[in-house]
Amino acid sequence: MSDYVIETRQLTKIYGDQTAVNAVNLHVKKGSVYGLLGRNGAGKTTIMKMILGLTSVTSGEIDVFGQNVKGREKKVFPRIGAIIETPGFYPNLTGTENLEIFSKLRGTAEPNAVKNALEVVGLPYKDKKLFSKYSLGMKQRLGIANAILHDPELLILDEPTNGLDPIGIAEMRKFIKDLSVEQGKTVLISSHILSEIAMLADDIGIVDHGALLEESSMKELEKKNSKYILLQVSDVFKASLILERQFQLKDYSVQDDQTLRLYDTSLDMGAVNKALMMQNIAVISSQLCNDTLEDYFKKITGGEGIA
Ligand SMILES: Nc1ncnc2c1ncn2[C@@H]1O[C@H](COP(=O)(O)OP(=O)(O)O)[C@@H](O)[C@H]1O
Ligand SMILES: [Mg+2]
Repeated sequence: MSDYVIETRQLTKIYGDQTAVNAVNLHVKKGSVYGLLGRNGAGKTTIMKMILGLTSVTSGEIDVFGQNVKGREKKVFPRIGAIIETPGFYPNLTGTENLEIFSKLRGTAEPNAVKNALEVVGLPYKDKKLFSKYSLGMKQRLGIANAILHDPELLILDEPTNGLDPIGIAEMRKFIKDLSVEQGKTVLISSHILSEIAMLADDIGIVDHGALLEESSMKELEKKNSKYILLQVSDVFKASLILERQFQLKDYSVQDDQTLRLYDTSLDMGAVNKALMMQNIAVISSQLCNDTLEDYFKKITGGEGIA
């Protein structure tokens, strides 16, 4: 049996003549937070809706908890909690009253379900405030509380930080992390903001124009964050020999026949320039570069980037 809580094979959704999701192979590991990253219209919500059976699958397959969902929906869906669209809460009831209703509708067995769920998201139990008086942050929290009422093993959260202020975002991040680390839940979360996903996710999938362009661990991706000196010289071969011998440089790469990348940014470039010139090697340019994850995403999504 596979270790994945969600695995899709060639998952595809076509609306009319538009391919919204194109042959996506998603791999969400048990206990991990998996971030789906992509700009608006990339296909994130459609992927989530297909996993949750909220829209039909055009072609491809979805496994959840190690088995094909098809024909097993009644067994699988109660084990998932989700926020896709803002749940229809009643404005003239309190948060607790709203959750009591949803809890009854869903037949949640645990008597303290509402109290526990509110506690996880940091909302007061049996408090008098009506939903209509809630701030956006409180509404989003109540949405999450509603999604975890029945203690699901898997959470699917579509842009849960949308519209929140930085403090709200940080709080949201904290309890999603807690749900994963302390309660061992698996979380699939989407966002169009790179920095949000980067701080939260263990693994990340980059979606663009319906396709999953890359799937990787956050650790692996962080290696794309790098600082280096880009050194352009008349003779790369001779220059690298001098750098190795006189400056004990080992960590560098040759970009082309005129350019070196030196990963030790503490090098004394004045001394390097002098040493190269003494050997009749012309230094055409030298500059400090800083490649960020942002640059990398721009590169792979071909242009405007994501955030
Ligand atoms: N019900 C629908 N009918 C037709 N096209 C849709 C529908 N839902 C989404 N789309 C299209 O599918 C693409 C992916 O949308 P969506 O999954 O909502 O992207 P994201 O969540 O990444 O912003 C978009 O081009 C969108 O216009
Ligand atoms: Mg969306």
